[in-house]
Formats: sequence, structure tokens, C-alpha cells
Amino acid sequence: MAVESTGQSEVSGRPVSSLGELYQAFDALSIEGGWHQRSPALWEQPRKSLLPHGWKYSDVKPLLAAAGELVDQDMSDRRNVTLTNPAEGNTFPTVRTLVAAYQLIRPGEAAKAHRHTPSALRIILEGHGTYTVVEGKRVEMRPGDVLLTPSWLWHEHAHMSTLTDDCYWVDILDVPLVHLLETMFFELLHGDFQGEVEDLAEAPIVFRWEDSVARLESAEAPAHGMAEREIELGDPALRTVSLHMQQMSAGFVSATSRTTSNSVFTVLQGRGRTEADGITIDWSQGDVVAIPAWRPYRQVVSENACLVRASDEPVMAALGLLRSETLPASDASIEA
Ligand SMILES: [Fe+2]
Repeated sequence: MAVESTGQSEVSGRPVSSLGELYQAFDALSIEGGWHQRSPALWEQPRKSLLPHGWKYSDVKPLLAAAGELVDQDMSDRRNVTLTNPAEGNTFPTVRTLVAAYQLIRPGEAAKAHRHTPSALRIILEGHGTYTVVEGKRVEMRPGDVLLTPSWLWHEHAHMSTLTDDCYWVDILDVPLVHLLETMFFELLHGDFQGEVEDLAEAPIVFRWEDSVARLESAEAPAHGMAEREIELGDPALRTVSLHMQQMSAGFVSATSRTTSNSVFTVLQGRGRTEADGITIDWSQGDVVAIPAWRPYRQVVSENACLVRASDEPVMAALGLLRSETLPASDASIEA
């Protein structure tokens, strides 16, 4: 429809003869001119909001043990502490798409069955006597094992052994991704525990420590140079999370690289440090290290080490957003 020009536009009977009046009219309609957006929509490279950060197991364990005395199963049937990235304004994620937590389960305790759309995995740090039941299959959890809980499967955990070990593990979930996608569903099982249960020594959701060690012995050096030997657990382990177990000898210094995928490292053995974008994170057994996307980092190993890297690589790859590059070593120690 042709509009006759009068030299002055009107909107709803009000003149629009200046940019100020134009933007006021925009605001009234919840529209925004692409030429004066409040914040840019595009930028050259990923912005880095969350921080590389490490959590010491030796710091957290005594507090979790104290919680073991103060927080009973009536208060919470899952006694865990989430590792919240300390970047300003962040209230939950460890890295953008993943959250990690330490969890303690004590003899006689049981975490009731539930299911949720986020996927989860557990990396067992210490203690014997626990098992998990995923969709009616019950498997024991032992130190060094990695266990999966894929999206929307019923799961419960318990420590029903006569052993007196307190059991600690690291949980990693894609809850922040599910928050971003606004696809959270959660359901408690009526009756609290799964009725029909089958005991299994092995299952596709379990990666046993001794099997991983055997595979690592014959594994080759990965092309990316971030470890001496590397195996993948699963292919990928979960639809949203991949798992790589990495082995490095004392004295090993990795390549320096950055990637668009977000990583959470759990230290199963050894000692060393991660240099990431000007931040040095010392680590040893049980520690967790967060390396958010696009932070240049490298590993410097002082005692033979075994790490599990959990990352959102499958998500980035599925969306065509996975990019990685090797950098000069100095880029890890100099804040970019
Ligand atoms: Fe759960």
C-alpha cells in the first residue's frame, strides 16, 4: 500500500520526527532497531564469562563429612554440594552447560528413585558398598568407576553394605544446558524405590576402573596433544556429554589449546597443575577443574596422573559449533 509522504510521520496520532520519538515508539511495541541495539548480537570470538577454577577434594571432603552429621536423609536424600563457578553473577553452573557436585552417601543410606531430563554421570572417588539402580538394573559402584544415568531413566542409589565406608563421588550433569533449553522435567517414583531389580556385574552404563586402566595401557597419544594416552568412555557416553580418560606421566607437559566445548576434569590419580588463561590450578586426587569454553589451557604433570574429562563436545559437534585449535605454550599462562 502506498503511503503519501507528508514530510512528518505519525504513529497512533503522535508525530515521529526525531530518533528519540522513533525509539520511544519502538519501545512501546517491543521492537529494536538493528542499528542501535542495547548490546551487540555478534562478536568475533566466544566471550569468556565463566572462569577456569579448581576445587580441592581435601577442602570439600571435611565439609561434606560435617554435612553427613548435620544433614540427614529427611533433610535431603542426596547429600551433595554443587561446584558453582565463582565468576561474578553466576549462581549455579560449573561451566556453561554442566554442573559438577561432590556427593557423600553413608552406610545404611539410600537415595530414592527419580528421573529427570538432564543426563548424569558419576565418577567414584572412594569407599565401597554402594550401588546404583538404573531402570531396574542394579550395579555396584567402586572407586575409579564411571557410571551413567542417561536422560529420563529411573535411578536410585544406596549404601546397603555391611562395610562401614563413607562413599564419595563426583556427579556431573547437563542441568545448566537443560535450563538454557527450558526442557526440564522431573518426577519422583511412586513407592520411592524400583520394585523389579536385576543385579548385574557389568552393564553398558558402567565403565570399570580396571577395564579403563587396561585400555589405557595400549592407548595411543591423542593427536590434540593434551594427554599422553587417552581413551573415550562410550561413543559418546551420553547424548550431551562425552567422557575421555587421560593418562599422563610425571614431567609431561601437554600442548596448549582451546576449544568451544566446556570441560570438567576430575582427578583420579596423580598430581599436577592446569595453566588456563593466566590462572594456575594445582590439582591432586579427587580434585575437580573447570575449563570453560575458549580458555587456552595446558596440563603440567608432576606425579603420574589419570584424569577424566567430561565435556559437552557432543552438543557442540551436533550443532556444528565445535572448534578447537592448538596455540603457542605462552597463551596458557598469559590472560588472553
Ligand atoms: Fe538424579
